[in-house]
Amino acid sequence: MCGIVGYVGPKKAAPILLDGLRRLEYRGYDSAGLAVHDGREIEVVRAAGKLENLASALEQRPLGGSTGLGHTRWATHGRPSEQNAHPHAAGDVAVVHNGIIENYLELKHELQASGVRFASDTDTEIVAHLIHRALEQGAPTLFVAMRQALGRVRGAYALAAISRREPDRLVIAKNASPLVVGVGEGETLCGSDIPALLGSTRNMLFLEDGEMAELTAGGVRIETVEGKPVERAPKRIDWSAVQAEKGGYKHFMLKEIFEQPRAVEDTLRGRINLDEGDVVEAELGLDAQAARTIERVVLVACGTSHHASLVGRYWIEQLARVPAHTELASEVRYREPVFGPKDLVVAVSQSGETADTLAAVKAAREGGARVLAIANVLGSAIPRASQGSLYTHAGPEIGVASTKCFTTQLVALLLLAVHLGRRRGTLDAERGREILQAMLELPNEMRWTLARKAEIHQVARHWHNAPHMLFLGRGLGYPIALEGALKLKEISYAHAEGYAAGEMKHGPIALIDENMPVVVVMPRDRQYEKTLSNLQEVRARDGQVIAVVTEGDAEAKKLAQWVLELPKMPELTQPVAAVIPLQLLAYYIADLKGTDVDQPRNLAKTVTVE
Ligand code: F6R
Repeated sequence: MCGIVGYVGPKKAAPILLDGLRRLEYRGYDSAGLAVHDGREIEVVRAAGKLENLASALEQRPLGGSTGLGHTRWATHGRPSEQNAHPHAAGDVAVVHNGIIENYLELKHELQASGVRFASDTDTEIVAHLIHRALEQGAPTLFVAMRQALGRVRGAYALAAISRREPDRLVIAKNASPLVVGVGEGETLCGSDIPALLGSTRNMLFLEDGEMAELTAGGVRIETVEGKPVERAPKRIDWSAVQAEKGGYKHFMLKEIFEQPRAVEDTLRGRINLDEGDVVEAELGLDAQAARTIERVVLVACGTSHHASLVGRYWIEQLARVPAHTELASEVRYREPVFGPKDLVVAVSQSGETADTLAAVKAAREGGARVLAIANVLGSAIPRASQGSLYTHAGPEIGVASTKCFTTQLVALLLLAVHLGRRRGTLDAERGREILQAMLELPNEMRWTLARKAEIHQVARHWHNAPHMLFLGRGLGYPIALEGALKLKEISYAHAEGYAAGEMKHGPIALIDENMPVVVVMPRDRQYEKTLSNLQEVRARDGQVIAVVTEGDAEAKKLAQWVLELPKMPELTQPVAAVIPLQLLAYYIADLKGTDVDQPRNLAKTVTVE
């Protein structure tokens, strides 16, 4: 999510660190900073906003040493600001971090009780204090102190630290967030991503989860967190700078489709209490009393976020037994809608800045409703205008067509439905546990689905010149059909329509002939038999069927010309995996047509106009 770069060697560190951060700029960030050891002290310079702000701050306060750390932050805990920007210092230590510390509140309270004063709202600062405390309590080196700190920390991290006492080295550690070491001539670097290091070296080695390393100008020493030495030779990376930004994928959109299992893991991280079958979420600000007084949930959103809301509506009604409605934000704001204090309005927006959604939030607040935001950008306008928020931790999404933000919105909505259900007494702990367990299995089910990309590519090759495509689904499959159609039209410019399968005979059936490809979303669920009948109706009129089914569905295989499989999984969580074949289908079709996949014509990533 955020960007890390570290340097130790004979040159001045600051320009190299700044160059590394510039190479990571494409990922998006909200603040940045450097910490450099000048031979006597560690100096930290940070700035909110763009790297130019950091560069100007560095002109005012040049940093002289040759060991240092740099960071671009994408906020997850604590709003974007200079104070929350990394590096974070404690005593003799400065730290940068990517990822999420799950048990940060517990650790923060413990440290506060022992007299520690925090200078930021971040989870990262806790790690700096833990390392500092370990040094104070006798840890002989930064490496040992980092190991002791890691013993206390749960979560995802790529960490890099420097210490005033050891000016010639960096210590780094990795768990579930990428970390790369660059081995140059008499200099060693680290980075969260390959592009950060390309200005200095192409010889790189990749740290694995549960490993730490000590970097000096002479090289790198790796150990597992338990202290077992690790031997690993660097590899030569021949990617161009542009290839490296995309992680070797052809487009950001494809990279982001494949990042979804990780994005879902991060969105779930620290939010699930399996023992209680409950969702741990302080930011929501919805206690049992507030949850019980809700008489209606209204989900407001645009585009892809609206499709996520349609799925959310099913979940909220099913699990929390409260009427739930969805509204297109662009419509509701002009309708003189009636909102009241017994309404919970959920504004879903990946950017958190969409003008129509923001206006709907304001209308809801004026009507006295309680408003909760689901957003991917911390501190953006919609969460700021809401009383509570639930952030998706998808990381920056660069492709204009939303993919990982959609699946993490789904995850956030299901967490919300469980949260409401448990507080309203409509969901017992056992069922809550079952659903949360199913959510924990999602990343692997998504990986299973992504691994079938070759079959999806085959369908794309056959149909990439089709001028039209119809997408059908029922129940939870209906919003997924809508999203599949939207993805296709956005990036391939083919005309695509999503329909509730039950509506087919009320109109769209007239379109069906041998030239009409029809994608039917029909995993095994309570609506399966009915959707199968719709598939038969399409086949009876010579329509060409691409069915998205649960693995081993012999019935569908007999009838459909193409079958895209999902793993066997619980009905409730199916939409999160079911959208993947449709995202990939749209992507491959667009790529075969040669459109500008990441920046489709006429579209913007953030729509701040009506
Ligand atoms: C489609 C897409 C858009 C957005 C819509 C709302 O791929 O990304 O339809 O979903 O513009 O944007 P947010 O979610 O930022 O409010």
